[in-house]
Parts: sequence; C-alpha cells; structure tokens
Amino acid sequence: MTTLERDRAPRPVKISIENVSKVFHTRAGPVTAIRDLSLVVYEGEFLCIVGPSGCGKTTLLRILAGLERQTSGVVSVNSGDDTRPLSSVVFQEQSVFPWFTVRENVAYGLRMRHVNKKLRDSIADYYIKKIGLTAFADSYPHQLSGGMKQRVSVARAFANDPQILLMDEPFGALDEQNRVLLQQELLKIWEGSQKTAIFITHSIDEALTLGDRVLVMTAHPGTVKAIVDINLPRPRRVTEIRRSPLFLELFTKIWEYLESEVLKAREANGFVQEAQ
Ligand SMILES: Nc1ncnc2c1ncn2[C@@H]1O[C@H](COP(=O)(O)OP(=O)(O)OP(=O)(O)O)[C@@H](O)[C@H]1O
Ligand SMILES: [Mg+2]
Repeated sequence: MTTLERDRAPRPVKISIENVSKVFHTRAGPVTAIRDLSLVVYEGEFLCIVGPSGCGKTTLLRILAGLERQTSGVVSVNSGDDTRPLSSVVFQEQSVFPWFTVRENVAYGLRMRHVNKKLRDSIADYYIKKIGLTAFADSYPHQLSGGMKQRVSVARAFANDPQILLMDEPFGALDEQNRVLLQQELLKIWEGSQKTAIFITHSIDEALTLGDRVLVMTAHPGTVKAIVDINLPRPRRVTEIRRSPLFLELFTKIWEYLESEVLKAREANGFVQEAQ
C-alpha cells in the first residue's frame, strides 16, 4: 500500500483508552502516575510516545500489556485474530534470557505457544537474519554487545507475531550509531508487517523517524498534552527524512509542546531554573 492509499483508507480503532487513571499506593502515600488519559490507537499505526521522565509512559505501556491494572477508566482492545498473541513487549532494560541462545531467545514466545521446533526455528532464523545476527544464532547473550542484545529483544517480539507491539525505549541505552542502524532495521521490519506499534522514546528525532503520530504527555501525573501527525512519506530512510524541512518543522512543534512539561518535571524534582 502506498502512503497515499494508507492515508485514505478508513482506520479501524485497535485500542481505545478512556479516562484512564493509575494511582500507586506507596508508604509515602498515593502516587498518581496517570490522570484521566484518553486516546485512540488505530489498527496498523505506529504511535510514538514522548514525555518527561516519570510522567507515566511505562505505566501506560504496562497497563496496555496487561501487566498493571488501571485504577479507573476503560481500556478496550479490538482483538480481531485471537489465534495470535495480543501483544509483545520490548522492555526499557535488557530482557533476554542469559541461559538461552539467540535462536532460543527469539523463538521463546513461539515455544510457549507450542509451535513445533522446526517451524519456530525457521521463523526465528528469518527474524535473526532481518536483524543481521545470523552468524550469532547459536551464541549466548554474554557473547553479544548491548546493541546486539536489544536487537534480539526486537526480533523476539516480531517473531511472536503479536497483534500489538509495545516498545519501551528499546534503543535508549545505545550509542547514536547503533541507534540509527536499529531504527532503520525496525522501520524495514515494521513497514513490511503493518502491525499496530506503540513506541516510547525520549528522543524527538526517533519519534519523528518512526511514528505515524506522536503523543506528547504532560509532566507527572501524565495525561495527553498533544498529538502530532507525522506526515513524512514511507518507506522512510533514517538519513533521508532527517534532511526534510517538514522534519525540522515537526521537531520544533513537538519540542514546543514538550519544553514546558520538561521544565515542570525538573522543578518538581528540585531543579531550579536559572534567571536568563
Ligand atoms: N510500582 C510502582 N509503585 C509506586 N510508584 C510507581 C510504580 N511504578 C511507577 N511509579 C511512579 O509512577 C510515576 C510514573 O512512572 P513511570 O515509570 O511510568 O514513568 P516514565 O514516564 O516511564 O519515566 P521514565 O521516562 O523515567 O522511564 C513515577 O512517579 C513513578 O515513581
Ligand atoms: Mg519508563
């Protein structure tokens, strides 16, 4: 489907989030991580989420993954094909099993679903090739670099063939070069799959490179500050789209939404703004 056809096609809703709040009860008292957040995520879209540290991004993702329950509000997911897992998560921190090889890690979800070994190995090998780790398929995580381990996590999430991919700063700990390479790989795999994807990042560049829309969250407690459409054409090449004037324009727009929220979060955490 071309970009134009994608834009014109009616977009069914995949996830509907209505007035969701989450309060954690801690020894120091209640902590409202998310307050009254409403959002719709469309089938097959790539939604990026940016927001100051501690604004509730991970909490929202964990609610969507079913790992946490909201205190109030409704989350409904249109789970069309129930033979496929609903969601797979790539976590903020590295989450590969050290005692499994790369292939076993990538095939883990399929094994849990009792897919036979031959089929799961061939699916795993397909994604291992996509992420450029064929030579390391039989290696263990301790033999890999940090970036390679993150690639294994991404391949595992795709191999699981979920309806929704949830990614929490998967490239956050990587150096810039590896991050750009992985963004390109992710774009390639995702553009071929058209899965609904939600991707948290601290990088506006990254959100613009990957997303169809960017959700900007407010400072703690988090809710929707703005939603920005990213009308950059696909397929995207990381290096090319960064040169486009629209990229710069969107960067500035998102930063303008984000700046005041980041300052609020800093003040709440005890940072003092110096006089200009
Ligand atoms: N299990 C928990 N118990 C108590 N408070 C929590 C818990 N999980 C998160 N919080 C609080 O909820 C708020 C949101 O946390 P969350 O991890 O969702 O933020 P975040 O936006 O992902 O931040 P970062 O960008 O630093 O990853 C924070 O104030 C945090 O301290
Ligand atoms: Mg987080």
